[in-house]
Amino acid sequence: MQTPHIPVLLEAVLQSFEEIEEGYFVDCTLGYAGHSSEVLARYAHLSHIGIDRDEEALDFSRHRLLPYAERSSLYKGTFANIFPTLTQTPIMAVLADFGVSSLQLDKRERGFSFHSETLDMRMDTASSLSAYEVVNTYSQDKLEYILIPMVKYALIVN
Ligand SMILES: C[S@@+](CC[C@H](N)C(=O)[O-])C[C@H]1O[C@@H](n2cnc3c(N)ncnc32)[C@H](O)[C@@H]1O
Repeated sequence: MQTPHIPVLLEAVLQSFEEIEEGYFVDCTLGYAGHSSEVLARYAHLSHIGIDRDEEALDFSRHRLLPYAERSSLYKGTFANIFPTLTQTPIMAVLADFGVSSLQLDKRERGFSFHSETLDMRMDTASSLSAYEVVNTYSQDKLEYILIPMVKYALIVN
């Protein structure tokens, strides 16, 4: 299967699961299941909960994780909303790979890239608020409130 995203720090992530003897791990940012599929393949005693707000990513991952379907449950939404509703126990590990996926950047119609014709940037395409609306309708004060901390953070990490 051709995958649209290469998981970062894969071996380090896999090693961090070594000592877990049983239970569930939650992938809060499932994406294309690059991390989750490898964890499930290496650790047959672990069960999986995958969360993403992007339906396109979930569709891809549902297919990719078919070999592990008995040990895996997927949920659509933000991890902040889904996590408190989970009833599976014991949850032994939580993985979060924050940011955008390669596919979100590469697919021009998703409106994340400088090459896109439209400005969109919705991770959940069913949500109503796009970046286009934010940029064109928010007041200058509100935009500064959102953007200035991001610019400062970008300067620090670079
Ligand atoms: C860097 S990608 C994860 C890639 C994944 N680790 C893999 O190996 O395929 C980040 C993913 O997090 C999702 N995401 C971003 N914010 C989220 C949130 N608040 N709740 C759930 N998913 C979120 C995005 O839709 C994207 O698919």
